[in-house]
Amino acid sequence: MTDTLTLPADEDGIARAAEMLLAGRLVAFPTETVYGLGGIATSGAAVAGIFAAKRRPQFNPLIAHVADVAAAERLVELTPIGEKFAQAFWPGPLTLVAPQRAGSGIADLAAAGLPTLAVRVPAAPVAQALLAQVGLPVAAPSANPSGKVSPTTAQHVLDGLGGRIAAVLDGGPCPVGLESTIVGLGRPEGPSLLRPGGLPAEEIEAVLGQQLSAAGSAITAPGQLASHYAPDATIRLNATSPEPGEVYLGFGAGPADLSLSDTGDLIEAAANLFAALRSLDAHGMPIAVAPIPQKGLGRAINDRLRRAAAPR
Ligand code: TXA
Ligand code: MG
Repeated sequence: MTDTLTLPADEDGIARAAEMLLAGRLVAFPTETVYGLGGIATSGAAVAGIFAAKRRPQFNPLIAHVADVAAAERLVELTPIGEKFAQAFWPGPLTLVAPQRAGSGIADLAAAGLPTLAVRVPAAPVAQALLAQVGLPVAAPSANPSGKVSPTTAQHVLDGLGGRIAAVLDGGPCPVGLESTIVGLGRPEGPSLLRPGGLPAEEIEAVLGQQLSAAGSAITAPGQLASHYAPDATIRLNATSPEPGEVYLGFGAGPADLSLSDTGDLIEAAANLFAALRSLDAHGMPIAVAPIPQKGLGRAINDRLRRAAAPR
């Protein structure tokens, strides 16, 4: 056990976090989507430490975070359509999976030995400042123990990983609240949606001029694991009201123990999702969840809820 430092997200805190990362230590940091558990992506030892801290059962590939599009291009071949996506959506809640360049310097373990690499340029100012100071790609999965709900506050990170990582940079709650949308590039059938997330697929499809293809069966992203993002409580979906003995997570008008959004706003609901699951989980009762419309960010919310509800 080490004591996990909580660093304020000011100039000194960010400088300290950058130093710790460069010294090979693990530091959780806020992005606009969720908190990431950062380690230098070119260091096999740091990347191995990430898997150990999360107690990930397998070496699932990680996302390399960089400060700008130019840094991303040094790691992967974005392809022409990938460059269009990068111009349209970076910095932002989009991850692109593309063929890795020879000499990227990325530790093999970070990409789990795959020829492709997932890359993201986050928009949150604290993440931007940190990545600019570090000057190297930072591998960062969501900063939660494997299989658990992603953290959207520094306290969530401490609840799950306190004592197992060097520090958490506290930048307050994450505004998007859902992990990034992941798009796969460089496949003959065209760009594919590997994971719905904080950037609505419709916005990507507007730039693409057609629908994203569905994820091919060749991809084994753990986001695809049937049971993932799981609270301890069992979850019942599309519940228009709670049964006796259940707590109710609402959406829109109507009584609820907690509501994702009183006004039925999907953006607000996404931002509240993981914190709401954590707080209802603390009651130790089954959770019934109101129906969420399957459009915009609702697609990603429903994807996370289905995984949280899957039998384990
Ligand atoms: O918003 C996010 O994406 C957050 C923040 C911290 O950036 N990160 C995140 O990382 O959600 P993680 O490790 O929890 O999820 C990354 C997903 C995994 O499902 C992984 O399998 C997939 O990305 N992935 C990574 N590299 C891949 C690759 N080369 N091919 C296919 N999937 C990949
Ligand atoms: Mg995760």
